[in-house]
Amino acid sequence: MKLDNFIHKRWMIRAIRLASLGRGFTSPNPLVGAVILDKKGRLISEGFHQESGMPHAEAMAFNNLQDDPSGGTLYVNLEPCCHLGKTPPCVDRIISSGIKKVFVSIKDPDVRVAGKGIRLLENAGIEVNLGLCENEALELNKSFIYKNLKGYSYGILKWAMSIDGRVGLKNGKSKWITTQESRSLVHKIRADFDAIIIGGNTLRKDNPLLTTRGFKKREPLRVVFTRTLDLPSKAKLWETELSSTLVVYDSSTANEGNLKRIPKNVSIEKIPSDDPKLLSRILAEKGCNKVLWECGPELATAAVKAGCIQEFITFLAPKIIGGENAMNPFSDFEFKSMNEVVNLNLQEIKPFSRDIFLRSFL
Ligand SMILES: NC(=O)c1ccc[n+]([C@@H]2O[C@H](COP(=O)([O-])OP(=O)(O)OC[C@H]3O[C@@H](n4cnc5c(N)ncnc54)[C@H](OP(=O)(O)O)[C@@H]3O)[C@@H](O)[C@H]2O)c1
Repeated sequence: MKLDNFIHKRWMIRAIRLASLGRGFTSPNPLVGAVILDKKGRLISEGFHQESGMPHAEAMAFNNLQDDPSGGTLYVNLEPCCHLGKTPPCVDRIISSGIKKVFVSIKDPDVRVAGKGIRLLENAGIEVNLGLCENEALELNKSFIYKNLKGYSYGILKWAMSIDGRVGLKNGKSKWITTQESRSLVHKIRADFDAIIIGGNTLRKDNPLLTTRGFKKREPLRVVFTRTLDLPSKAKLWETELSSTLVVYDSSTANEGNLKRIPKNVSIEKIPSDDPKLLSRILAEKGCNKVLWECGPELATAAVKAGCIQEFITFLAPKIIGGENAMNPFSDFEFKSMNEVVNLNLQEIKPFSRDIFLRSFL
């Protein structure tokens, strides 16, 4: 790699690292970091998008300027915006700053930008270099990109199972398969998500809390998906001081008389079927880029079949639960041949406390 390229890459990696500090807080917006050098190549400012509604990365970097940026260079991992949203367009700020060179990793898939931001910069006589650290930038914002291109939330399914592949006893008891440390890691993992989804049966059986236990200031939305609305009148999810709850029900099958059991502080939405894809779309429309499915086998299978799951997180505990009727992580996909089974790419595997952590994707 030429020295120049190496230097540019180093600054962009710095922008990407800054961007990642906003993890879990920026939805529906992307993760963006910006670095500004003066005309001599000295770092004079940097910033990142901290939270939706707060200044964009470029704006924060301009607000933090220590010196004159004219003739300088900007590194930003996503194409600067050119539309008036909750904050003014970043392109205008870049043009008026006198910056002469802009490195951008990837275009913004948002139709309001999608290449227009780059064209405006070029029309103003700024040299724009697109594609620096493209892979790292795509990985960082994959859920934002997915949601913008497909209109659905990026879904990750998580489950914990014994070494013989069971997620619970045949009587439904599953507390606890993994260690306390693994469960604490799950609380931390949740902080990276905008919503956590379970099915009605998991609510009835486990009465879970589904929070980050304080890892995140703004807790993810907790979502219960139900066909029947046969939900208890007392549940931890009905306590919404720390974290909001949304119940989504299938109006073609639910007994709406059961709605009276759900307290008023819980949000309710109805959809016309039990298609998990509809739920994923509703959550995308609510601004959820990334959602964690923590459901049991029935809903997990329906969500995989519907194409709502892009990644899988598995905690494998060295325990044998056994039993022909003990719960599996999935119900029947009704595959007839090995050519039909769901093939995953293993991305990460590591021992964690006494368990094994695996991350795989489709
Ligand atoms: N080890 C683990 O990682 C783990 C994780 C989660 C759960 N679990 C265990 O899993 C058990 C519950 O299993 P489950 O499969 O019944 O889980 P679930 O997460 O409750 O999903 C099933 C429920 O989702 C609702 N639903 C809505 N649309 C659906 C659709 N298209 N397809 C399927 N379900 C839909 C229904 O709720 P309604 O019945 O209200 O209509 C249904 O009963 C519990 O014993 C729990 O302890 C284990």
